[in-house]
Amino acid sequence: MRPSRPERCIRRLVAATPVPVPDDSTRFDLLHPDTALPYRINAASAWIWTNLEEETDAETLAGRLAGAFGIGPDAAAEGLAAFVERMSALGFVAADDGSPEARLRARYLGLLKSALANLLYPEHELRIELLEREGPQPDLARRLRDIRYSNAEQFEALVAHKRDGRNWRQRATRFSHTMIGLKRLQNLEYCAQRVFADGVPGDFLEAGVCQGGGAIFLRGLQVAHGEGERRTWLADSFEGLPEPSLEQDRGYDFHEAVQPWLAAGLEAVKDNFRTYDLLSDAVRFLPGWFADTLPGAPVERLAILRIDADLYLSTKQALDALYDKVEPGGFVVVDDYHAFPPCRAAVDEFRAGRGIAEPITRIDWTGIFWRKR
Ligand SMILES: C[S@@+](CC[C@H](N)C(=O)[O-])C[C@H]1O[C@@H](n2cnc3c(N)ncnc32)[C@H](O)[C@@H]1O
Repeated sequence: MRPSRPERCIRRLVAATPVPVPDDSTRFDLLHPDTALPYRINAASAWIWTNLEEETDAETLAGRLAGAFGIGPDAAAEGLAAFVERMSALGFVAADDGSPEARLRARYLGLLKSALANLLYPEHELRIELLEREGPQPDLARRLRDIRYSNAEQFEALVAHKRDGRNWRQRATRFSHTMIGLKRLQNLEYCAQRVFADGVPGDFLEAGVCQGGGAIFLRGLQVAHGEGERRTWLADSFEGLPEPSLEQDRGYDFHEAVQPWLAAGLEAVKDNFRTYDLLSDAVRFLPGWFADTLPGAPVERLAILRIDADLYLSTKQALDALYDKVEPGGFVVVDDYHAFPPCRAAVDEFRAGRGIAEPITRIDWTGIFWRKR
């Protein structure tokens, strides 16, 4: 049985310090270290954040919160739960039941995220950059060996780009199984946890998979939570983006000849799933252009729909074909909303056309999600 909320453990996922808002002693900004996006929080939330340690028992923390702010224990527990819920959605904190199984799952998923974003061996990327830039040279072996220390500033910048899923020098796309960065991966973890905890039925689907990393993580979440009977669907041309064909997408040409790193073949993606031991019959592929594959796709119900296809037309096609399959309580996640105006236009038009009032939550510098009522 799932323990009630006050029995849960809370973990802070990122290191950040609340900064007081000028001229308002009751408000603080919590800056995400990877994205520098501020999240405004009140004094009690800032207190909770500061008092969160590696593993904190929610009941004890609520008791201390009640004492610190002179509020009743129920109000403190409720406030704490609401804060954890919001910050979990944004990838700042995680809550679990504190069991050894949950600890182990969190460690597996943490390792999986790092592996998918290529944060286990990031030095290799800097080594390749050096070779591309400067070519063979005397003392090469030593320079490559020590690159993390001899080029410490570049190394830190590279890791920050990869954690953040920023594509400067194509650092997000070239050598990682996913380009979506840790915060958007963390958001998927949050969505999956809510879906499982609340018993929302349905499969997970990613439209726009590239090398498959985001979808591999979706499958990893299902398996790690004992929900492996759900399916994970991957929709992609497996030959990159289409050339822009609509006025709305003019100027956003990412097709294979222009952006070869955005085109991963079907076999390569399957091999990537095999690398993580996550390929099975429950992983289903929809190869081809969305216009051809999505309208008649044999997908019945979705608990998570993740759209990561950059363009207006591709985003629109995915929403038109799949939104009605998302169950109440399910999540719609859009990767490129803030990065690419055409994607944003497709989402805004769709939501306006359907009268969708569920609030949009920003995940990081680009991604957003909403939960369907
Ligand atoms: C930015 S990449 C996806 C990144 C991926 N989600 C990850 O985890 O790294 C965009 C993908 O969308 C696919 N795509 C975009 N529009 C498409 C369309 N209309 N039909 C099929 N695939 C499309 C491209 O082939 C490409 O693989």
